[in-house]
Amino acid sequence: MVVGAGVSGLGAIKICLEEGLEPFCFEESNDIGGLWRYETERGRPSVYKSVISNTSKEMMAYSDYPFPDHFPNYLHNSKIMEYLHMYVKHFHHLKHIRFLSKVCSVRKHSDFSFTGQWDVVVQAEGKQESYVFDGIMVCSGLFTNPFMPLQKFPGIMRFKGQYIHSWEYKSPEKFQGKKIIVIGIGNSAIDLAIELSHVAAQVFLSTRSGAWIWNRVWDSGMPMDTVLFTRFNSLDCSLPGSSVHGILQARVLEWGAITFSVSYLRRMLIIVSFIMFLWAILFLNLEEGN
Ligand SMILES: Cc1cc2nc3c(=O)[nH]c(=O)nc-3n(C[C@H](O)[C@H](O)[C@H](O)COP(=O)(O)OP(=O)(O)OC[C@H]3O[C@@H](n4cnc5c(N)ncnc54)[C@H](O)[C@@H]3O)c2cc1C
Ligand SMILES: NC(=O)c1ccc[n+]([C@@H]2O[C@H](COP(=O)([O-])OP(=O)(O)OC[C@H]3O[C@@H](n4cnc5c(N)ncnc54)[C@H](OP(=O)(O)O)[C@@H]3O)[C@@H](O)[C@H]2O)c1
Repeated sequence: MVVGAGVSGLGAIKICLEEGLEPFCFEESNDIGGLWRYETERGRPSVYKSVISNTSKEMMAYSDYPFPDHFPNYLHNSKIMEYLHMYVKHFHHLKHIRFLSKVCSVRKHSDFSFTGQWDVVVQAEGKQESYVFDGIMVCSGLFTNPFMPLQKFPGIMRFKGQYIHSWEYKSPEKFQGKKIIVIGIGNSAIDLAIELSHVAAQVFLSTRSGAWIWNRVWDSGMPMDTVLFTRFNSLDCSLPGSSVHGILQARVLEWGAITFSVSYLRRMLIIVSFIMFLWAILFLNLEEGN
């Protein structure tokens, strides 16, 4: 059984089919897409109206179903929904999904230690249904519920104005002329502060930690993530004196090529020395063998 028909649930259905399993997906709402399906309906989590992906289409695509060429590199949420509908249609996923069906509980079956099976209760059409499944894939989302640490803001209960979590935010209209403080410096905070600044009287951004802010687009119009998030770079990042950190620092400080090239050259020097060292050992062994 797959819980949820968002991006993860749809991928899970595909993987199950490839493995010869029979996936059965329960989706609480009435359509696919999860958070990416923008809606103004209160209580159902969704992105806000203006969201554009911060991961490029090359990075976001299912590995066996690329985004169409004419789609832009970074996508408005409506384009991501268009893609997901194409994906579902192409692989005939809909017949494996049951909408308006909320998974209420998942418990180990009485003979779980022998069978590995699970008892599942689903709320659908006003009644509860019980099922037994061999395996469960939980794809119910990471950002389904808001985290509002009000206890960390002493005095908030005496505050006369309105306060909301970005989870509730859909569009800026009702904040016309207001004086607003946005707390945090994650992607939501920055997006909202910018969007609200066009309609609000004043916007403050409050952050308890620093952040590096840079463009989605890298040199020569390349999507930033396709340039930076490579296997080599993630290996490099895990080492002390990372040249990738050097590149980012140089870029953020707009300090240019010096930091970048020095640290990049240093890293290349270490790699070349290592390869020469391996080659020397191999050569000596071959010589001894002769
Ligand atoms: C504002 C915002 C912008 C984002 N931008 C990006 C981005 O640019 N790039 C990126 O990669 N990620 C981004 N994300 C992260 C985003 O969460 C993921 O891209 C994606 O939505 C995760 O998909 P999912 O299927 O895991 O979860 P979700 O999209 O949350 O889908 C979960 C699904 O499970 C269903 N469900 C939940 N509980 C149950 C239940 N008990 N029974 C039945 N169904 C249930 C829900 O109805 C929903 O349809 C963003 C998130 C937010 C909030
Ligand atoms: N496509 C887009 O452009 C886009 C837009 C929005 C969101 N997203 C995605 O959605 C996900 C969630 O992003 P998000 O920005 O909502 O959340 P987030 O990345 O978790 O950022 C939360 C921010 O709130 C701050 N914060 C948390 N608790 C606090 C407290 N008690 N007091 C003060 N500050 C506090 C955090 O500070 P600390 O760092 O100090 O903890 C951080 O700056 C991410 O994956 C993001 O990429 C994408």
